[in-house]
Amino acid sequence: MIEMVDVNKTYPNGVIAVNGISVKIKKGEFVYVVGPSGAGKSSFIKMMYREEKPTSGTITVNGVSLAKIRNSKVPIFRRNIGVVFQDFKLLPTLTVYENIAFALEVIEIEPKEIKERVMEVLDLVGLKHKARMISTDLSGGEQQRVSIARAIVNKPKVVIADEPTGNLDPETSWEIMNIFEEVNKRGTTVVMATHNKEIVDNLRHRVIAIESGKIIRDEQRGDYGYEY
Ligand SMILES: Nc1ncnc2c1ncn2[C@@H]1O[C@H](COP(=O)(O)OP(=O)(O)OP(=O)(O)O)[C@@H](O)[C@H]1O
Ligand SMILES: [Mg+2]
Repeated sequence: MIEMVDVNKTYPNGVIAVNGISVKIKKGEFVYVVGPSGAGKSSFIKMMYREEKPTSGTITVNGVSLAKIRNSKVPIFRRNIGVVFQDFKLLPTLTVYENIAFALEVIEIEPKEIKERVMEVLDLVGLKHKARMISTDLSGGEQQRVSIARAIVNKPKVVIADEPTGNLDPETSWEIMNIFEEVNKRGTTVVMATHNKEIVDNLRHRVIAIESGKIIRDEQRGDYGYEY
C-alpha cells in the first residue's frame, strides 16, 4: 500500500529531515509515527501524499510510483488519500456541509450523490445536526470531526493525520481517536503522527519511532516509549 525504499529528504536550507528510511505499510494497518520534535515525522508523512518530494529514494503509494506523477496529476493522486491536520484547515466562511461537499464538487460527483455521501460521513462523525453551521463557529473537537469527515468522504484507501489531537483536550482527543478507530475498522489504512502518549499506550497499534530522520523502532502493538 505504502512503500518507501531508502528515502532521504534534505530541505533547501541543508537540514536533513529524513535520512535513509525504508518501510512498508500494508493495507488496513493503523500506524503511529512517534518521536521528538524535529525528528522528521511530518516530513516523513508529507512525502506519502506528495506534499514534499524526497531528495532520493523511491515511494510507492497505492501501486503508484510518486516520482512518476507529474505536478498537474497530483490532485488526482490525492483523491485516494485523506489528510487530517492538527489545525483542521477548514474553509472558514463555509458551512460544515459545504466544507465536505467541496471535496466532491471538484471531482464532479452528481449533486444527489454528494448530498447522500456528505450526510453519511456527518452521521459517522456524529455531526449531522450541525451541517448548516459555519465551520469555524464549532468547537475544536467538532471542527476536527468535520475535517475527518472531509478526509474520508471520497472513500480513500489511506488516511494520513499529522497530530490530529494536538490542539484538543484529553477527552475530546479520545472521541476523535474513536472515529479514526472506526475508519480503520472499515478497512482504511491510517498513518498518524502523534505526541499523545496516553493514546498510543492505550489504543495499541504499530508504532514507528523516528529520531534524527531515521526509524529507530518499528513494533506491532508498540508503546509510545517517551515520557512526554
Ligand atoms: N520546509 C522546511 N524547510 C526547511 N526545513 C524544514 C522544513 N520543514 C521541516 N524542516 C526541518 O526538518 C526537520 C524535521 O522537521 P519535521 O517537521 O519533519 O519534524 P517533526 O518530527 O514533525 O517535529 P514536530 O514533532 O515538532 O512536529 C526539522 O529540523 C525542521 O526544522
Ligand atoms: Mg510535525
